[in-house]
Amino acid sequence: MPLVYVTRKSHFNAAHRLHNPSKSDEWNRATFGKCNSPNWHGHNYELEVTVVGEPNPETGYVMDLADLQKIIQERVIDLCDHSNLNLDVPFLKGVIPSSENLVVAFWNQMEPHIKGGKLTSIKLFETARNVVEYRGNL
Ligand code: NI
Repeated sequence: MPLVYVTRKSHFNAAHRLHNPSKSDEWNRATFGKCNSPNWHGHNYELEVTVVGEPNPETGYVMDLADLQKIIQERVIDLCDHSNLNLDVPFLKGVIPSSENLVVAFWNQMEPHIKGGKLTSIKLFETARNVVEYRGNL
């Protein structure tokens, strides 16, 4: 049977600060540099969520992209867009909001809600050149 990968792209803006509160200010500055700036900084994040599956013979769809978009919107975008990722987002409480940690948290937010297709990849573009991808646990 043919396996088809289907991707939905989304966008959100958010502020954050990379800071590990269990370490000294000096360690944080040395480790995170400008990303440790106490007055926050913002990113225009691009998010790509990919599901995989066999096209349903009745619809030709792996999964209705409107359904996927609704999950992305409600589980991630509505909570993160125009937010401070360190302070405002309940599911990120206690998480250092690096792109690596964000994709894992986003996966856990969305995966249980995705039906039909199987979640296979989440890519987060923090900038056009810095991209992180999570494909689930090994
Ligand atoms: Ni940053």
